[in-house]
Order: sequence, then structure tokens, then C-alpha cells
Amino acid sequence: MTRIAVFASGRGSNFQSIYHQIKAGYIPARVVVLISNKEQAGALTFAREQGIPAEVVQPEAFPNPEEFGKKLLEILQHHRVDWIVLAGYLKKIPDNVVEAYANRIVNIHPALLPAFGGKGMYGMRVHQAVFASGAKVSGVTVHLVNTEYDAGPIVLQKCVDISDCPSPEAIAEKVLAIEHQLYPQALKLLLENPFSIANNRVMIGTLNND
Ligand code: GRF
Repeated sequence: MTRIAVFASGRGSNFQSIYHQIKAGYIPARVVVLISNKEQAGALTFAREQGIPAEVVQPEAFPNPEEFGKKLLEILQHHRVDWIVLAGYLKKIPDNVVEAYANRIVNIHPALLPAFGGKGMYGMRVHQAVFASGAKVSGVTVHLVNTEYDAGPIVLQKCVDISDCPSPEAIAEKVLAIEHQLYPQALKLLLENPFSIANNRVMIGTLNND
């Protein structure tokens, strides 16, 4: 069974949807630790209610990203974590963690990357930018994490019609409902199949020959 660490900074609705899909037997995994940078995160409360070990690690407490990464790696190794699932985690994953878990860190972004992504583009800011652009579709992207913000190989994307959305909040609500479906689907695909990476896309069902 794949051992997962979930990283979350906020309310944790994606974490909850993943957790429930694991319990239902849809995703072959176990959440062995929840890591947050915020004491107040709803995700932390949910983890504690479920008896999942939960840790708060604040990057500000470390002199540099490398030391922050070493602390994260210590926790990940202690819990024998195989995969890292970012579910509304607002801090950058340090390079030493990305290297140690190459192609085993996955993130969800509430828009169709590469549009409306990158540093500073998170949460409502994304939906505000989409709304301001006049776009009639938005969507969800699940991607592997590399050392650049929102730029790793794409696993799955799904479009959402937002032409009737009168506000960024209305877009957020529609997109979130799709996130709760797409993230479990993507995790199931990644954990149950071999995959390779070609042209910055994750190709499910094929192995790298190199
Ligand atoms: C989601 O929209 C996710 O795509 C983004 O942050 C939000 C987190 O929501 N990265 P939640 O904490 O999972 O409810």
C-alpha cells in the first residue's frame, strides 16, 4: 500500500475528498502524515479527528529552504512516505525534497495550466484573474511537481464551463467540485499504473526505457 503524506495550508476539502476515496477503496493508499505550515488549518483539525499524525512545520522557522527541506525529509522518512500529495499547500517545496521525491510529488491547481499559474497565483487570486480575463472556460490541472511553480508534467486536466458565472466566487465553487473528482482520479491512475514523462506530460501506462 502506497504511503502518502498530504501537505495542506487551508480548509483541506481536497484532503478530505482524497481521504474518503481512500477509505472507500478507490485509491490504493494510506495517508500516514499530514503536514501543514499553519496551526489554524482546517486540514490539521480533520487529520487529528481521523487519528492521522499531523505536524506543523513553518518555513520561517528555518534559516534557508535547504534546512526547511531537511526537516521535511526527516518527517517523511520517519513515516516511510512514498508519495507527497499537495492539497492547497501554499509554500514552495524545497529543492532537496523535490529531488528526493522526483516524480512522486503531485499538486492540484484550480485553473488550466499553464494559464493562470506561477508564483503568487493561488486560491481566489486565480479565480479573480480568470474572471477578469473574460474566459468562458476554466478548469482543474493535476500535475507532478518540479522545482518551478506550477510547471511540472501534467497528469490530468478537466475543463469547466464558467460562461454563466457572475463572480470569481461562483467560478471557485464550480471548479472546486471538479477538483474533488479529478484529484482522486489522478492519484488512482498514478498509483495503479506505470507511467512515463514525454513532452512535459505524464503518459499513463507506459514506462520510460531509459
Ligand atoms: C484548491 O482550490 C486547490 O486547487 C488550491 O487551493 C485550494 C485548496 O482548497 N491549490 P482546500 O484546502 O483543498 O479546500
